[in-house]
Amino acid sequence: MNEVLKAIEARRSIRAYKPEQIKDEELNEILRAGNLAPSAMNQKPWNFTVIQNKELIEKLNDFCKKAMQRDNNKDLNLFYNAPTLIIVSSDAKAIAPEIDGALALGNMFLAAESLEIGSCWIHAVKALYSTEEGKELIKELNLPEGYSIIGSGVFGYKVAPANTPRKEGTVNIIK
Ligand SMILES: Cc1cc2nc3c(=O)[nH]c(=O)nc-3n(C[C@H](O)[C@H](O)[C@H](O)COP(=O)(O)O)c2cc1C
Repeated sequence: MNEVLKAIEARRSIRAYKPEQIKDEELNEILRAGNLAPSAMNQKPWNFTVIQNKELIEKLNDFCKKAMQRDNNKDLNLFYNAPTLIIVSSDAKAIAPEIDGALALGNMFLAAESLEIGSCWIHAVKALYSTEEGKELIKELNLPEGYSIIGSGVFGYKVAPANTPRKEGTVNIIK
């Protein structure tokens, strides 16, 4: 199996992270991989907001939990205490903002795996749009004008491997 296929096979959504920050060179490789993703008409309508500030990730966690009405669970950390959060936003006027943003995140997850860095898509950031204070917090993120959050990914060194079941039987070949 070649290295690309090995990374695709090995990548899992990781939900427990070491507090140690990933190296800047590793972060740059991950971001570069995101930027190399295909996009409709090569618009690359994405923007990556990298957050490595623990207090801000905690604040986002508090706001997202509140917006999702899950703030009764004190121990819940929607970002799994990962040291790096990358929020992907996309130009709402692009041809396929959500699809392009998802492809960028997918590339970043595979690049992370190839560097032995764990990752997980975190959908909760979308919930920020459902409350007024969440919308105010989004303003603090300084997204480019007209951009909306597509999703986010957490990144960090893995504590525990994941073993979510994999679905088979999703292929229909017509010859
Ligand atoms: C659009 C999307 C949203 C997701 N949101 C979350 C999330 O908010 N929290 C989480 O722990 N995992 C999230 N995941 C990860 C999935 O649960 C995970 O990919 C799936 O269970 C398969 O496991 P694997 O990634 O280890 O193969 C999300 C994945 C996608 C594609």
